[in-house]
Amino acid sequence: MPNYHRPITKNNPFAIVFVCLGNICRSPTGEGLLLHKVKEKGLASYFYIDSAGTAAYHVGEPANSKSQATANNHGVHLPSKARQFEYADFNEFDLILAMDAENYKNIKALDRNNRFEDKVKMMREFDPTPEDGNVPDPYYGGLQGFENVYQIINRSCDALLDELTPLIEDD
Ligand code: 4NP
Repeated sequence: MPNYHRPITKNNPFAIVFVCLGNICRSPTGEGLLLHKVKEKGLASYFYIDSAGTAAYHVGEPANSKSQATANNHGVHLPSKARQFEYADFNEFDLILAMDAENYKNIKALDRNNRFEDKVKMMREFDPTPEDGNVPDPYYGGLQGFENVYQIINRSCDALLDELTPLIEDD
């Protein structure tokens, strides 16, 4: 059984943070998509969902306009305001999902004593077709890259929710 498995209740919601580099493209897409999915299923009160970036370049910014347009085409709103991932997040969250190997390495570098190793996973561990395991950085490319990112994160979030939903219990 994966080590982050525990009973999920309204009093003890499962906290997930998606992490990319800038917190304006990939991780806001994860946050907005998973929020949308849990609301659609009536499970919003069992989850706390957030996103962050390992870099600080875009702190305070909303999601990138191409990420927003792509999500909106699918009826999904991206509510994020960029912030940098910080050490306190290791305690705050049950699951820390890195979008690529570089983000994973940057997160792990903050956990010098490996106290939180079990909480840090790659987003595409949940993707049924993980390819090289990275969600590619769409920032410098065209809309097709943003759509590709959306599809990867969409199917990964579906698989993640399928794994977590059976852990939900009533208080
Ligand atoms: P994200 O994309 O990590 O998916 O938010 C990027 C956003 C900004 C930059 C790189 C990637 N940047 O170099 O500013």
